[in-house]
Formats: sequence, C-alpha cells, structure tokens
Amino acid sequence: MSAAPLRLGLAGLGTVGIGVVKILDREAALIAARAGRPVTITAVSARDRSRNRDADLSGFAWETDPVALALREDVDVFVEVMGGSEGAAKAATEAALAAGKPVVTANKALLAHHGQALAELAEAKGTTIRFEAAVAGGIPVIKALTEGLAGNRIKRVMGVMNGTCNYILTRMQAAGLPYETVFEEARQLGYLEADPNLDVGGIDAGHKLSLLAAIAFGTRVAFDAVELEGIGNVSIDDIRLADEMGYRIKLLGVAQMTGRGLEQRMTPCLVPTDSPFGPLMGGTNMVVLEGDSVGQIVLRGPGAGQGPTASAVMGDVIDLARGFHVPTFGLPAAQLAQAVPALAATPAPYYLRMTLLDKPGALAKIATCLGEAGVSIDQMRQINQKGDQDDDAIVLIVTHKAAPSDIADALSRFAATGVLVGAPVAIRIEEV
Ligand code: HSE
Repeated sequence: MSAAPLRLGLAGLGTVGIGVVKILDREAALIAARAGRPVTITAVSARDRSRNRDADLSGFAWETDPVALALREDVDVFVEVMGGSEGAAKAATEAALAAGKPVVTANKALLAHHGQALAELAEAKGTTIRFEAAVAGGIPVIKALTEGLAGNRIKRVMGVMNGTCNYILTRMQAAGLPYETVFEEARQLGYLEADPNLDVGGIDAGHKLSLLAAIAFGTRVAFDAVELEGIGNVSIDDIRLADEMGYRIKLLGVAQMTGRGLEQRMTPCLVPTDSPFGPLMGGTNMVVLEGDSVGQIVLRGPGAGQGPTASAVMGDVIDLARGFHVPTFGLPAAQLAQAVPALAATPAPYYLRMTLLDKPGALAKIATCLGEAGVSIDQMRQINQKGDQDDDAIVLIVTHKAAPSDIADALSRFAATGVLVGAPVAIRIEEV
C-alpha cells in the first residue's frame, strides 16, 4: 500500500487508550484496507509512565505533556482519551485544533462544557472533532444522527446512557436490594467513576444527552439547561410497586424541541415494561431516535468498556483516514442556534406513592387535592400494610397527563392535609 499512513498521537493509556492500541495491533491490515492507508500510533502520553499496562508500547515515542504530543510533527490526528472537562485534556485538544489537526475524543464532559467553542475553533482551522466514543460507548449513535438520519427532522431523542445507573437499578429490582447495598456492590466491582456522582447524580448521562440534543436539533450544546436528577432517591419499594403496575424505573434522558423551547431531561422515569427500555438490564445502553420520515430507531449495545469504546474511537479514526469530513455537531458551528430552554417539561402521566393514615376521609382529602391542582386520576390502588384499620396505608396513584407544576401544586396541597405519613414520591411516566 503506497498511501501515507495516518499517524495518531494517543493521549491517555487507561482502559480506552489500551483498547485502541490493541485494535490497531490486532487489525492493522483490515484497518489499512478499509481506510485505504495504514493507521499507526507514533507517540503516546499518560500521567504515569511506569504503570504496567496490558499492551506493548515500546514502539511509540513518549511525551509527558499531552500538548507537546498534540503538536508533534509526526502526529496527524490527536486522540484524547484522558477525560476531564478542564486542564490537560482541554489544553491539548485546543492545541491540536489550533494546529489544524482533527481530534478524536471520548470526552463527553469536555464537549458538554466547551463543545461550541471547540467546534468553532476546529472549523476556523479547517478541521473537526469526532466523538462517537463519548456517547453510549460502542453504540454508533453519533453516526446514526449525523449521517444515516441526516434527512430527517428529529422529533425526540431518548436514552439510557449510563450503564452504572442501569446496573444499579436493575440489580435492585432483580435481587430486591436497597440502593445503598447495590451502590456499594457497584463500587466493589469498579463500575463507578472516580467521582461516583458523575454516574449516580446523572451528570455523565446528562453530558451525553446534551451532545445528542445539539446534533438532533441543530443547537449549541446546552448542558447547563439539562434538568438533572440522579438515582439516589429511587427506592426498592418504588421499583417493586412500579413493576407490579407494569413499569420499570430507568435513569432516562429525553430531549425534544417543543413550542416552548428545547426540553432536555435526565431523570428517573417510569417506562412501560413492554417498551424498548423495559427489558434493558445491567450496564447495557439504549438510545431511541425518532425522525419524521424514519419513525422510531432503537439502538442497543455496550455503553462502556475497553473493546466497545475503542471500537467507537476507531470508527472515527478510519473516517478521518478516508478523508470523510462531517462538521462536529453535524452543522457548521456558526449555524448552530442558541436554543431557548423549555422552562417546564411536557405534561406526562405521573406515578405517585404515599403513605396515609388509614382514617376515614384520608383518601378523599388526597383526591380533592389532586382535583384542586387540576390533576386527574387514571388508576389508584391502596395497599393496607397489616389489614388493621389503624395502620398506615400505602396509596399508589397513576395520573392522567399533568403539567409538572400541577403535580408540584398537588404535592404541596397534600402536605397541608395532615393525613400523610412521610413525604410522597412522584415519578414521571415517560411514554415511549
Ligand atoms: N460511567 C459510564 C457508565 C461510562 O457507567 O455508563 C462512561 O461514560
């Protein structure tokens, strides 16, 4: 093969970086054939040079400073798999782009916070940023949106995009264990990010949603406008009771353009058990894309891990080797609109769980509060704990579609009735 090789500078030798080294080592001939030219690594960098890594790195030059790596003459593409929204990852990405070199990154936090500025810099220098590995691991969802579905007006994007949260929620359900116990198991298994709140606080998944929304709706990345709620308050009681009513609880991302602006949410939701998301177990991710012409597309696959994430990085690298060029967010950066954030979510049915004093008139008071707040009841169930008239009763209510503000109004009215034991739970039901 006579074409000049595409030479990578690889910043980050953790799980993903080593995965890239392994694929290139194992599949050099296949990749060269597909790309039309060899793809090689010329130099690498990582925080700790002495760490024992599961790959032969002896053929690569070593740079201590990722910025120096990005600027090396023998590096054509800067591959950033270090992570972190600031510091070295940002500085080196900026340096590569300023030098007119394309960047392939797995860094959702960096793009969620600085995506617009980086896309503008890339375009000013005639280059691009590719980030398939940043969203839903091995699932080629960025390609699906920017290429395969480019002829569609996207109506809605939904996703379970944090495998750790889905592992915790599905393990709670399968084993009947409380959140705290399963969180600890996930920690022992090494599933949690160094800062666990990135996972269980919904932040990592919120970063990913904001990137998909930018591509889907042609808007500037607006992570700060994502309504975020983590899974820390999801109880085993709600998982069990929701299951009995035909629902599963997921940390679900939803982005849609409404007449009121761009709605972006990453919150625990009930989804029907027989919906695409219902059976999704463990660390697997799923993204559902709805286009005006195509209808609904469901993508399911591994959201993390060495092979899947490196697979996504290599897809981007091979595109660059082929000379295939897509604007970072699918549109020239200057054309990305500043989205008006929707101030409230679209009305939806809600699941309400509360414990009531089992006294005459208690339930009537709750029903009155809902009526006064303009919320209509679809289903209601009372579970008497011990069948004794004086014991507390658990009441489950599924509402018809209601505005979140009306649900909040109903909850504050509940508080004034004096018939509640503890705080009520309200979880949105997402119709998929
Ligand atoms: N911690 C993430 C997850 C993977 O659990 O899905 C990296 O984004």
